[in-house]
Amino acid sequence: MSGGVPAGLTETLAAAESVCVLTGSGVSAESGVPTFRDAQTGLWAKFQPEALATMEAFRRDPSLVWEWYRWRRELVRQARPNAAHAALVELEQMFPRFNLISQNVDGLHQAAGSRNMIEFHGNIMRTVCSEEGRVVEDYDASESPPPCPHCGAYLRPDVVWFGEQIDTDALAAAIEYAGACDVFFAIGTSALVQPAAGLAELALQSGACLVEINPQQTSLSDRASYALHGTAAELLPALVRALRDSPGERA
Ligand code: OAD
Repeated sequence: MSGGVPAGLTETLAAAESVCVLTGSGVSAESGVPTFRDAQTGLWAKFQPEALATMEAFRRDPSLVWEWYRWRRELVRQARPNAAHAALVELEQMFPRFNLISQNVDGLHQAAGSRNMIEFHGNIMRTVCSEEGRVVEDYDASESPPPCPHCGAYLRPDVVWFGEQIDTDALAAAIEYAGACDVFFAIGTSALVQPAAGLAELALQSGACLVEINPQQTSLSDRASYALHGTAAELLPALVRALRDSPGERA
C-alpha cells in the first residue's frame, strides 16, 4: 500500500494497455464546485436539482431554470482544476489507450489539459437554441432566458437534461471504450444516473478491473476490485506517484 493505493492495483495498472475513466461531480468538489446533489444552497436550497434539470421544468418556468443555471455558471466560472484533474492528465500520458468520459459539465478536465475526453452531459458554459439546437455565442444576457437571435425561441444551456438523449456519437464511443478497456475507473460519481452508470457494468461484464474512488459507498463499491474510500484530489496524485515508482514504471 502506498498513499492509500494498494500494491495490487499498481501492478495491474503497470501491465494495462487500455484505461477508461468515468468521472462525476465529486472530481470537481475540491475545486469548489458543489456536487450535483449537494449543489443546492442559499436561495436554491428548496429546489431538487432533478426537478430543475428537465425540459418540463424549462417549459413550465423558463426564467427559474435559466436563473438556476446562471448561478451554477458563476460557481463554475470561479473554479480552477484541482490535483485530481491534473493527475488524470498525467495518467492519460502513461497509457497507450486512455479515454475519459465525464458527466461533469464544468469543463475543468479540458482546462487542466485532458485531451481524449467525452463530455457526456454537455457543457454548462455553452448556450444553444432550445428549438434548433444551434450554438449561440452572442445574446442579450440581461434577459431571462434570452431569446435566440436567429429564431426568437428561448436559449438554454448545452447540457443533457433528465429524460434527454446522450449525443449518439458520444454514447457509441463511450460504450466502445468501456467494453474494451483493461481497467475502468469510476471516480466521484454516485453511479445513479443512466446510461453513465451502465458503463461500469459493461466494463465489468467485459472482464475489466473496476476501480472506484469515492469517499462514500456507492452501488458499485461491492463489485469493484478496488474501492478506494478517499477524495479524488488525494488518491489520484498518490496513484500517479505509485505508478511512477513501480518496477514496471510507466513514463
Ligand atoms: P452526485 O452528486 O450524484 O455524486 C457525487 C459523488 O461524488 C458522490 O458519490 C460523492 O460521495 C462523491 N464525492 C464527493 N466529494 C468527492 C471527492 N472530493 N472526491 C471523490 N468523490 C467525491 O453527482 P454525479 O454522480 O456526478 O446529470 O451525478 C451524475 C449526474 O447526475 C450529473 O452529471 C447530472 C445528474 O443527473 C445530468 O444533469 C444529466
